[in-house]
Amino acid sequence: MKDRLEKIVQGALSQIESSEQLDKLNEIKIAYLGKKGELTSVLKSMKDVAAEDRPKVGQMVNDARAAIEKEMEKKKAFFERKLREEKIKSETIDVTLPGNVRRMGHKHPNSIALDDVENIFIGMGYQVIEGPEVEYDYYNFEALNIPANHPAKDEQDTFYITEDIVLRTQTSSVQVHEMEKGNLPIRMIAPGRVFRSDEVDATHSPSFNQIEGLVIDESATFADLKGTLAEFAKKMFGEATKVRFRPHHFPFTEPSAEMDVSCFKCGGSGCRFCKGEGWIEILGCGMVHPRVLEMRDIDSEKYQGFAFGIGLERIALLKYEIDDMRLLYENDVRFLEQF
Ligand code: DAH
Repeated sequence: MKDRLEKIVQGALSQIESSEQLDKLNEIKIAYLGKKGELTSVLKSMKDVAAEDRPKVGQMVNDARAAIEKEMEKKKAFFERKLREEKIKSETIDVTLPGNVRRMGHKHPNSIALDDVENIFIGMGYQVIEGPEVEYDYYNFEALNIPANHPAKDEQDTFYITEDIVLRTQTSSVQVHEMEKGNLPIRMIAPGRVFRSDEVDATHSPSFNQIEGLVIDESATFADLKGTLAEFAKKMFGEATKVRFRPHHFPFTEPSAEMDVSCFKCGGSGCRFCKGEGWIEILGCGMVHPRVLEMRDIDSEKYQGFAFGIGLERIALLKYEIDDMRLLYENDVRFLEQF
């Protein structure tokens, strides 16, 4: 019996020794230790062993089993180590390979233009304020001295949500909110989206952006308005930029004006860009109408103010020489990548 066991152990060990794969080990395990394995068959034949010898023989079988299992574990660990080493070798990283190129986002031309405008006015001591896009008729019209029968209120231009709630048609509504807070003096700009029921074309869109400006204090004059906006134009379009003011009418300012800048493409001599005019209109402005101040309980004898409204898209189109406003809304990446 002892010899038989020894032979089995020897056979198993030499097979383990010469095995070259993890799979092979499994086969050996089944062949020796499995249900129908060699060692198991020895155990089965225990009934033929004399009762007093059984513990001894049992012990020998157990030892044989332990010896085989031990060698198997060793070999298994060896294979696993080898596999791991091969894996590590095949996975080495070549640090000299070029990295994956990540696509960078781009700022929209509107955002770049708005950043520029904001920075210029912040530099002059203005606060940047925001107001609601959905607005009471009162803030969008009434409080800005635009009475009920005014053509600007024509349903063609305004999106009505209810009879007295609209999508704001102008950021001038933020003037009213700011005056209502009652903190004077005021020196603010209010950028934001506005809405008008216009057909889409190269110069119109039902939703576009404006930047409102409002200054109220005891000594604000039309000269301050001109100086401020002339400075803005120079910073925005270049030091050589000249400005001119043409009389205009807005219900909430008196007097009112539109401001043109000298064409920064031809310098004023006239070109395709300025349609031969030498000047390009960029904003509306004026001295805040006393009625607008009085409606907010601001003493119009003591306080004066000026206001202005800039079309953001117009500035972006001019600055980047884009000739169709629709390009600003389509967000075609090939277009946006240029900025
Ligand atoms: N709200 C005017 C518009 O949408 C623009 C404007 C003109 C704003 C003159 C002003 C201003 O503050 O003083 O056409």
